[in-house]
Amino acid sequence: MDIGENGAEFVVVANRLPVDLERLPDGTERWKHSPGGLVSALEPFLRSHSGAWVGWPGVADADVSPFEDDGLLLHPVPLSAKEVEDYYEGFSNGTLWPLYHDVVAQPAFHRHWWNSYVRVNQRFADATAKIAAQGATVWVQDYQLQLVPAMLREQRPDLKIGFFLHIPFPPVELFMQLPWRTEIIRGLLGADLVGFHRPGGAQNFLWLARRLVGLEPSRGTVGVRTRPGVVQVGDRTVRVGAFPISIDSAGLDAVARRKETQARAKQIRADLGNPKRILLGVDRLDYTKGIDVRIRALYELIADGRVDPEDVTMVQLATPSRERVDHYKTMRQDIEQSVGRINGEFGRVGKPVVHYLHQSVNREELVAFMSAADVMVVTPVRDGMNLVCKEYVACRYDLGGALVLSEFAGAAAELTSAFLVNPHDLDGVKNALQAALDIDPAEGRRRMRALRRQVLTHDVDRWARSFLEALGTQTSV
Ligand code: ADP
Ligand code: F6P
Repeated sequence: MDIGENGAEFVVVANRLPVDLERLPDGTERWKHSPGGLVSALEPFLRSHSGAWVGWPGVADADVSPFEDDGLLLHPVPLSAKEVEDYYEGFSNGTLWPLYHDVVAQPAFHRHWWNSYVRVNQRFADATAKIAAQGATVWVQDYQLQLVPAMLREQRPDLKIGFFLHIPFPPVELFMQLPWRTEIIRGLLGADLVGFHRPGGAQNFLWLARRLVGLEPSRGTVGVRTRPGVVQVGDRTVRVGAFPISIDSAGLDAVARRKETQARAKQIRADLGNPKRILLGVDRLDYTKGIDVRIRALYELIADGRVDPEDVTMVQLATPSRERVDHYKTMRQDIEQSVGRINGEFGRVGKPVVHYLHQSVNREELVAFMSAADVMVVTPVRDGMNLVCKEYVACRYDLGGALVLSEFAGAAAELTSAFLVNPHDLDGVKNALQAALDIDPAEGRRRMRALRRQVLTHDVDRWARSFLEALGTQTSV
């Protein structure tokens, strides 16, 4: 797969480019790594296979020409300030995101948001149609671009089109609330292969294809990477499957093994006052991630006298995310208030209980934090997959550490040796946290060994290959 004179043979289309343009207060601009799981997963794969990436550069009204970045051809798609408001913050993150995450926040339905979503999807489809070579493979990503497969097929029937959804696909009762439900299903049916993390998402989609578009999908059970569902759309066969995404496991393992990483982990521990136990949370600051749940659980454990704040320190790294969307503003206030409360009541000078950093850290620093943490706490109320828990496991080549993981993360189906919790059951979360803090080292190693077996053998390369092979694309380069 490479970029020939006649266009790109392999194109990824995603809302964001793997790098974001940052405008500094002095007027200068620089590129930085984009936030989120999609980029964490796809970037290492794409960088080792040449191709093109079509996406938004992350700021409004950026006029950037296509450029090459370390072997990847990046094709920026501009968004106006109004489109950022209506398509990105509005329909993508004010309608689809909460709707697809089990309505944990109320989705808003606005026709002008939808109209903007249609227009921007068309722009992405047009940009892709221009750069894809004859017969190329195009891999469209995520909920922001669900209309692109059909729009692209309309212009370029020669292309092989795959679509992958990185977030959960909701139960049909929730999806049916969407005023534009049929348009979305038709948009996705433009692909040759539609992929979800879990078989349940694929089954829901097949049901909706029958109910909303009047098609006759296959009725068998969809497997993980096997037995895709099939639906005939005119003279085309669309396949619908489950492909759980993963991480660059070997890459993280290698970073964790470096002497400098281990030295940095030791330093982090020392900077925290060498507590007996370190709890770690790493998330985009998003209301689906259950950051509030873990802080409340720790607060109660201390208040109950079950955990001594002299012994236990929590670090919460929270990447700023979607900061102008109302639900995100409220959640940030709530979390920062609860951090203030726990530190105010149980901290002392120089020793807060929770170290909260509303910041993104680089990969090496992230691995050092994960290496230092005795317990990784991942408590989303709903998450398509969640990569953070897999990253933690990949970093623990020493078989140290324990993972507390929500049952409502897609990863829970694979990481069954974690302490699995229902984030709505606060007592259950408290018990799991305590059990993870107090784990017998031999039992901890047994669990971590089983987790690592899963994560190291099911990495992002395997995910991408299984998807692209099901699409009928050669992935040998
Ligand atoms: P989502 O895609 O919803 O953000 P994931 O867990 O799938 O959730 O992926 C999040 C990615 O972002 C992971 O690779 C994680 O390491 C990274 N990340 C999250 N928070 C931070 C942070 N504060 N600093 C650095 N990386 C972060
Ligand atoms: O996987 C969920 C996702 O929305 C990705 O599409 C995206 O890369 C990531 O989270 C970060 O979100 P945003 O692009 O809105 O900052």
